[in-house]
Amino acid sequence: MKIFSGIQPTGKKHLGNYIGAIRQYVEGQEQGDPAIYCIVDLHAITVPWDPTVLRTNVHDTTAILIAAGLDPDRCILFRQSDVRQHTELCWLLSAVTAHGDLNRMHQFKDKSERQRELVSAGLFLYPVLQAADVLAYKADTVPVGEDQRQHVELMREIARRFNDRFGETLVEPELRIPEVGARIMDLQHPRNKMATTGGSAHGTVYVLDEPAAINKKLKSAVTDSGSEVRRDGEGKEGIANLIEILSVVRDTDMDSIERQFEGAGYGDFKGAVAEAIVEYLSPTRERYEELRPDEHALEAALAAGAEKARAIASETLAEVRGAMGIGQG
Ligand code: AMP
Ligand code: TRP
Repeated sequence: MKIFSGIQPTGKKHLGNYIGAIRQYVEGQEQGDPAIYCIVDLHAITVPWDPTVLRTNVHDTTAILIAAGLDPDRCILFRQSDVRQHTELCWLLSAVTAHGDLNRMHQFKDKSERQRELVSAGLFLYPVLQAADVLAYKADTVPVGEDQRQHVELMREIARRFNDRFGETLVEPELRIPEVGARIMDLQHPRNKMATTGGSAHGTVYVLDEPAAINKKLKSAVTDSGSEVRRDGEGKEGIANLIEILSVVRDTDMDSIERQFEGAGYGDFKGAVAEAIVEYLSPTRERYEELRPDEHALEAALAAGAEKARAIASETLAEVRGAMGIGQG
């Protein structure tokens, strides 16, 4: 089974990214043949960015992923822009992508509404580049959080349309979202997802947060006027989110968490969640501190990954070009 996923470059990876995606990437290393993970710097330029910060962010993300357990010898970890086939395939696939489908993408609507500066054509084409990322490897499975469902459906549609028109060439990938933790919510606004942009600073737990910061954010997490640690019922979004987080980080089911905290106050419950998150994220933060300073080593890992990625993607590109009548043939 070929696994592929992509992640935006930023040093501000949060608990939602960790639980919804990064945790699955690490598990995927056992099942993936190969497991391919891409830091998508070309997607990052679809909204305003600072060139120097972008390069730094790629290093931050690389170090976070390795610290979380990705082993560049057991998976293919690389920077998207190092493998030029992604951009070429993006253009080729744009020929079989419906403008109307792109217009329906929730992420495009959200991001373009929030955009104060230029709404770029790149933002509109973002899902086509994402389709190219995956289809270039003929990946079978795409582990992501819930918010990527629509993008994965679109890439399936693009693969289907390509194959109908040019013959069986591309693979329709399957979405894989975790059963628990596919959509972690903001601690301050538990009806909104935890997010790098658009989320609240106090409601977002970052992977690199110090324990004191995590404790503070959990203490001020929004709950409700009741007192029951239960996930169903009106206004229970805040508590439900904390139960879900605790269930993942402690690897226990949500019912037994409700039973354990029956009769306990919200204060004690939040304290337990904070403690469990600190324990869960600390090893990654500590390893990150060791890995991040050695940028040569990070670049060497990315370069080795890009070489392996290129070998696979270039074969697909040759087939796609041939099928479409592009180039000499
Ligand atoms: P991004 O940082 O936008 O590249 O997202 C990386 C991965 O994290 C994607 O697979 C997202 O679906 C996932 N993700 C982002 N936010 C959340 C969240 N609040 N809960 C669960 N997964 C998330
Ligand atoms: N759009 C994804 C996100 O914001 C990142 C991404 C880019 C991706 N290319 C991908 C995810 C390919 C899965 C597969 O999270």
